[in-house]
This record gives sequence, C-alpha cells and structure tokens, in this order.
Amino acid sequence: MNEVINTLSMNIPAKSENESFARAVVASFCVGLNPTVDEINDIKTAVSEAVTNCVVHAYQKRQSNQDMITIECKLFPAMLEVKISDRGVGIANITQAMEPFYTTEPNGERSGMGFTVMQSFMDTISVNNQSGGGTVVTMQKNFTKDKQKVSGE
Ligand SMILES: Nc1ncnc2c1ncn2[C@@H]1O[C@H](COP(=O)(O)OP(=O)(O)OP(=O)(O)O)[C@@H](O)[C@H]1O
Ligand SMILES: [Mg+2]
Repeated sequence: MNEVINTLSMNIPAKSENESFARAVVASFCVGLNPTVDEINDIKTAVSEAVTNCVVHAYQKRQSNQDMITIECKLFPAMLEVKISDRGVGIANITQAMEPFYTTEPNGERSGMGFTVMQSFMDTISVNNQSGGGTVVTMQKNFTKDKQKVSGE
C-alpha cells in the first residue's frame, strides 16, 4: 500500500505566473488515481498557497529567473505527497508563522491564512527550514478509495 507508483520533480522560477502553472501540473499528476473534483481543488488551492509564499515571502517578489522553487511529488496508490521548497529567506519562527492571521507582510495585502488553508485542505502538512537556507513545505492528501460505492455506480 505504501508503494510509490509515480514521481515528479521540477524547478521553476519564483514568478507569479508560475503559481497557476504549478497547481495545474500537480493536479494533472494525480489524475491517474481518479480523484474527486473536491480532492483536486483542495490540492490546487494548497499548492497555490505554498508557491505564492515562495514568490512573495521567500524571494520577496523579485520575480527573478534565478530564484527557484522546487516541487517534488510522489504518488502512492491512494495518496499524494507534495514537497514545495525554496532557497529564500527562511522562517524565523515556524510555529508562529503557521498561526491563523499571522503575517509579516507590512502592506496589509496578506491575510495570514495561507498555512491555515493548507492545513485544512490537506491531510498532513509539515514546515521546516532547510539547512543552507530556505523553507520546505511537505503536504499529503489522501484520496477516497472505492469511489464506485461512494457514488453508487
Ligand atoms: N516560503 C516562505 N519563506 C519565508 N517566509 C514564509 C514562507 N512561507 C510563509 N512564510 C512566512 O509565514 C507567514 C505566514 O504565511 P501564510 O501563508 O500563512 O500567510 P501570508 O502569506 O502572510 O498571507 P496569505 O497567505 O493569507 O496571503 C508569512 O507572512 C511569512 O512571514
Ligand atoms: Mg501565504
């Protein structure tokens, strides 16, 4: 049951336009598992939040081709693991950063709900600083098994 059935690894520059690209790629990666629309939407939202954090916070909106985001996915028979990492400024206090409404954005553009959204839409999330700098967010999403029974087909 813990067998890895597919993997994906990609590096993309931390630019705003890559947020929609990243979430579409991760969603497409899961289609073989026959996910529900809700499951796919949850994954898309969580990936968007994590990638936006890399663009906005880790690399402070520089939009440079040199600032990279790494996305690594592993697909299991009924679960996706997605790891989104950057080499940006890192997070001084991860526990505090994950609290609802906590934000370091000085201009009031952010609500401080990104990690809370990731937490509620995915089954597990862990946030760590990388040795050498930057942040890694690892999330898992379980898929409903036996959809025929659920939908009555
Ligand atoms: N990849 C990252 N690198 C550096 N700091 C980060 C990163 N991700 C999050 N943070 C820090 O954690 C805080 C909380 O993140 P969270 O996504 O919950 O809220 P936000 O990004 O400030 O607002 P929102 O996501 O609602 O627009 C951020 O304000 C920022 O200080
Ligand atoms: Mg955020």
